[in-house]
Amino acid sequence: MMPVPENKILRTATYVEKGGVGKTTTSAHVAVAAAREHDFDVLLIDLAGKQNDLSTHFGMGGEVEDVDAPISAIFGDDWDFIRDNIPDVVDRMVYNTGEEIDLIPADPGLGGADNNLANIPIEERFSKLDEFITQDLNKRYDFVLLDLPGKEDNIALNGLFAAGNVIAPLKPGAFERNQLENLRADLDDLREEHPIDPELTMVIPTMVKSSTNLSQEFVAEIQKAYPEQAAPVPVSNSQDISKKQNEGCTLFAVPEDELYNTGQRVLEAYRENTTELLNQLTKNHESRRSRKTSPEQ
Ligand SMILES: Nc1ncnc2c1ncn2[C@@H]1O[C@H](COP(=O)(O)OP(=O)(O)OP(=O)(O)O)[C@@H](O)[C@H]1O
Ligand SMILES: [Mg+2]
Repeated sequence: MMPVPENKILRTATYVEKGGVGKTTTSAHVAVAAAREHDFDVLLIDLAGKQNDLSTHFGMGGEVEDVDAPISAIFGDDWDFIRDNIPDVVDRMVYNTGEEIDLIPADPGLGGADNNLANIPIEERFSKLDEFITQDLNKRYDFVLLDLPGKEDNIALNGLFAAGNVIAPLKPGAFERNQLENLRADLDDLREEHPIDPELTMVIPTMVKSSTNLSQEFVAEIQKAYPEQAAPVPVSNSQDISKKQNEGCTLFAVPEDELYNTGQRVLEAYRENTTELLNQLTKNHESRRSRKTSPEQ
């Protein structure tokens, strides 16, 4: 058998079992920062597809309404056949966001794909996306970022298996104490219940108001609970975020003098956090590779 070519793609996923904490916003801004500041070839894959989905975030709503090559196809039994028989099927999945990164949008078939995965043997159930990234995206991208559903379904489990690394954004709020404990417990449960082993790579405090004690305490608690994983710079709360999402872009696409101070701080935070994240992902990638290639004792 031919050896599988070495796969150099860095991968991570945004995942928290909680809605509205900033997963989609984080994945979009980290992806654009990696492309702009580090010159990475970046692909975002939207496996969550909620109201604030990534195609809306990048102002591509109409364009992706009726995708002709849906990502949900890779979870089906006939994916190998499709890949081999439909010309350029992977190219046809990918859209240009206009912000230096590519996007594979979510599609309505993901719900059915989640159900179908339940019927296939456990050994194959969670590895479909990993195989897709390894086989079909190799050499095309340096960095693949997955925006996952905020619940433990078979699509999210595929994402966690494929990514191996998790970014968890958390926002201050009424349940913040539980959130911190739940984050660790949820990942522990996943590891126990399924043959996957995602690593918590970065916890990003987000929507942080510099003026409130609640926000400041929240940041301090994250740093205490996750000294290794806490992001270097908390992400401020800024009206610019939803304003620009409605206009269809990230803050990186806006001239900085058109942003509020809070927006400028958000940009700075995503820049710094992305640099640290890429360092960490590179380290994790290397150590996994050396574990794989080191001779058995
Ligand atoms: N730094 C920020 N400042 C202010 N608002 C923000 C910030 N980051 C995200 N938001 C807003 O918070 C809301 C939730 O963000 P987002 O959609 O990214 O969360 P999510 O975790 O992906 O949600 P879901 O679970 O619904 O997928 C959005 O309306 C977004 O515009
Ligand atoms: Mg989302």
